[in-house]
Amino acid sequence: MTVPVGLPGLTDKTVVVTGALGGQGVAQTLVLLASGAHVVATDLASSITDDLTAAAEGLPGTLLYQQLDVGSIDDWARVADFTLPLGLTGLVNNAGIPLRARLGDIHLDDWDRVMRINLTGPMLGIQALAPQLREGSSIVNVGSLAALNAHHTVAYTASKWGLRGLTHVAATEFGGRGIRTNIVHPGYVETAMMAAAPEIMAETQRALTPLGRTAQPAEVAAVVAFLLSDLSSYINGAEIPIDGGFSSSGGVKYMSDTIRRSQGQS
Ligand SMILES: NC(=O)c1ccc[n+]([C@@H]2O[C@H](COP(=O)([O-])OP(=O)(O)OC[C@H]3O[C@@H](n4cnc5c(N)ncnc54)[C@H](O)[C@@H]3O)[C@@H](O)[C@H]2O)c1
Repeated sequence: MTVPVGLPGLTDKTVVVTGALGGQGVAQTLVLLASGAHVVATDLASSITDDLTAAAEGLPGTLLYQQLDVGSIDDWARVADFTLPLGLTGLVNNAGIPLRARLGDIHLDDWDRVMRINLTGPMLGIQALAPQLREGSSIVNVGSLAALNAHHTVAYTASKWGLRGLTHVAATEFGGRGIRTNIVHPGYVETAMMAAAPEIMAETQRALTPLGRTAQPAEVAAVVAFLLSDLSSYINGAEIPIDGGFSSSGGVKYMSDTIRRSQGQS
C-alpha cells in the first residue's frame, strides 16, 4: 500500500466513512488519517481488517470502527449514538454495489437491493447524522461517471443519478447551517468492484478517456478529503467528475481517434 499524502485543513475533523474496507474507502480513510483527521470507518464486516489497522499505524489521525449496513435504519441509529459525543464534522457516503444487468434483464429484487444500498443508504445516513453535524461540516457522496451518462447497468446508473438529486437537496437544505454537500463522480477506479468486470470494459474506458488510463483509489480519495476540508469552504452542491476527462470528452475522443487513424496519423 502506498503511503498517503496528507492535506491541510483537516486536523479538527471527525468523519464517518461508509464502505471503508473497500478499495476507495481504505484510500479515503488513509488520506484523512494522514491529514490528522479522526475517522469512524464503517462497513458490513463485524470488525476492522488487520490490513487497514496496519496501514493506519503511525499516521497522525485516530481510527475507530463501527459495523454498518447502510441500508439499515437501525444500524444508522446505533452509529449516530456512537458518534454523538465525538463532535462529527463529516460524512462520506462511499459504500456502493455494482450490478451489471441491463434494462431488459433486471429483476425487481436486484433493482431494489441496488437502490437500497446506493441511494437509500446515503439518504438514511444523512438523516441520521445531519442533526449532529456542526457548522463547517461537509457531506461527500460518491456518485459515478454512470451518473453523468447512460451506462447500460440500469439499476446502478439510476441509483447514482438519484444520488445527484439527494446531493442537491441536502446542499440546499443544510447550507443555512453551514453544512456543505457535494458529490464526486469517479470513472473507472482500480478496486475490487471492477475486478469482476469484463476486461473489455477497462479497454473501452481507456479508449474513451482523454488521459488514456484508469484511476487509482488515492486519486479519488484526495478530492474527497479536499471536499471535507476547510479548503473547499465555499463549494456546496457541486458535482466533480474524477474521470480523466471521459465525461468532458463525451465520446468525441473515439471519433477524433478514428478520424486520425483513417487519415493515416497515429
Ligand atoms: N471502482 C469504480 O470503478 C467505481 C467507479 C465509480 C464509482 N464507484 C463508487 O465508489 C464507491 C466505492 O466503491 P469501490 O470501488 O471502493 O468498491 P469496493 O467494492 O472495493 O468497496 C465497496 C465497499 O462497500 C461495502 N458495502 C457494500 N454493501 C454495503 C452495505 N450494504 N453497507 C455498508 N457497506 C457496504 C463493501 O463491503 C465494500 O467494502 C461505490 O459507491 C461505487 O459505486 C466506483
